[in-house]
Amino acid sequence: MNLPNIKDARKRTDKKVDYKTVWEIKDDTLKNQKFFLKTYGCQMNVHDSEQMRAILENLGMQETDTLEDAKVIVMNTCAIRENAHDKVFGYLGRIKHLKKNHPDIIVALGGCMSQEEGVAKEILQNHPYINIVFGTHNIHELGNLILQANKDKQDIEVTSEEGCVFEGVNYKRDSKITAWVNIMYGCDKFCTYCIVPYTRGKERSRKKEEIIKEVNSLKKSGYKEVTLLGQNVNAYGHDLDEDYDFANLLESVAQTGISRIRFVTSHPWNFTDEMLNVIAKYPNIMPYIHLPLQSGSNKILRLMGRRYTKEEYLKLCQKIKDTIPNVTITTDIIVGFPNETEEDFEDTLDVVEQVKYDGAYTFIYSKREGTPASMMSDETTLEEKENRLQRLNEKINYYSKLSNEKMLNKIEKVLILGVSEKDPLKVYGYTEGMKLVNVLAPRESIGHIIDVKITDAKSFSLDGEEVKKIKQN
Ligand code: SAH
Ligand code: SF4
Ligand code: F3S
Repeated sequence: MNLPNIKDARKRTDKKVDYKTVWEIKDDTLKNQKFFLKTYGCQMNVHDSEQMRAILENLGMQETDTLEDAKVIVMNTCAIRENAHDKVFGYLGRIKHLKKNHPDIIVALGGCMSQEEGVAKEILQNHPYINIVFGTHNIHELGNLILQANKDKQDIEVTSEEGCVFEGVNYKRDSKITAWVNIMYGCDKFCTYCIVPYTRGKERSRKKEEIIKEVNSLKKSGYKEVTLLGQNVNAYGHDLDEDYDFANLLESVAQTGISRIRFVTSHPWNFTDEMLNVIAKYPNIMPYIHLPLQSGSNKILRLMGRRYTKEEYLKLCQKIKDTIPNVTITTDIIVGFPNETEEDFEDTLDVVEQVKYDGAYTFIYSKREGTPASMMSDETTLEEKENRLQRLNEKINYYSKLSNEKMLNKIEKVLILGVSEKDPLKVYGYTEGMKLVNVLAPRESIGHIIDVKITDAKSFSLDGEEVKKIKQN
């Protein structure tokens, strides 16, 4: 097997991108059999699973949520932190047990873990009940791989074709209202703590025509919202020959007239004024920016390879707030990076106090094998890191509640997505600023954008009621 190799991945000398088209296969060997698909990780993986589901259904298979009923089990894994690994290996224990009594089951492991050198080796040595290991770049081959494993009863490991962009992909989307749209793949930033550039390969953009075609077709099918996906959307287009960047793309997508546009994730580095101006200009681009900070200390930011300083980050946030009225800003923060002192951590708290984030995802640093940060010495105890995380979360929650409270009695436009989990008499949806609202409104409002008066603010959600439009004679 050609194992993923972290040293080679870092060199990234070949910038060439191949554009290819995928074809559906016709085979009914597994028709009416059941598949079980488990997804870990970020939006990219959630969207990749929508592709896997389409491939499996195209073979005539049906999804089950009972592991024991499945002929084919597919695990779409995440590698971002150690606990993501642990969850997957925990689940694999159950599958191993199942396979003892049902040796005909086909187990396929894909996603980011299968792209890690150490993990791929470990799976080969210690988990022989896994039939297929496939990479994040080879999802379109899943159908063939499963058929092959079923026919030959042979185990298959797949090498990665990381330099390609595949078009013609089908998705079985989870929602009929909101949709993910890949605009680019991979990451070339190589932040020193992060595994993603290795697991997702080099940065490569889809052609603008393909993206616009997809958005137009989603709009035609009744979709109300698209979220443009990339590890670092500001880098969109840099690898293309044309003079066309993310600001241009955002503008073209806005001009399709789809009701709502979001995008994740933007990097604070290279966040251009043109991007800001386009966001401010088009009402269908949502006033919501997820802007990962990671750390507020210049020393740590340098060690992380993040390419901006605390001061530059704060200036950017101010500019965002000045340009986009009612903007929501959320972030990602890592505590306990190697060599982070109490003083460094206080710099992070200082940024939180100044920006007053609407929300944040916070993490304790997790060592990823093969990354530059894994070689850095780390003196801080886990107890100290947990203490920092707790102090950080208290501050984040305080500002998040404050930001929700500011919405009280306001009228917000909410895209209703479904029946509320908390109260079956209510529906739920998101404001333009991406705040979750449980709304007193009829179920017919699902799939529509309605006016909602905010009646209560909690730490992580809002309550509201539909404001009926007054009919004019
Ligand atoms: N491309 C996005 C983030 C992708 S990963 C960006 O650059 O912002 C999502 C988040 O996981 C990161 O923002 C970071 O906060 C966190 N993360 C990544 N690697 C990590 C690690 N080794 N330990 C802890 N958190 C990590
Ligand atoms: Fe990871 Fe940095 Fe790339 Fe984000 S920009 S995916 S944190 S390497
Ligand atoms: Fe996403 Fe996890 Fe891979 S966060 S890119 S699924 S490592």
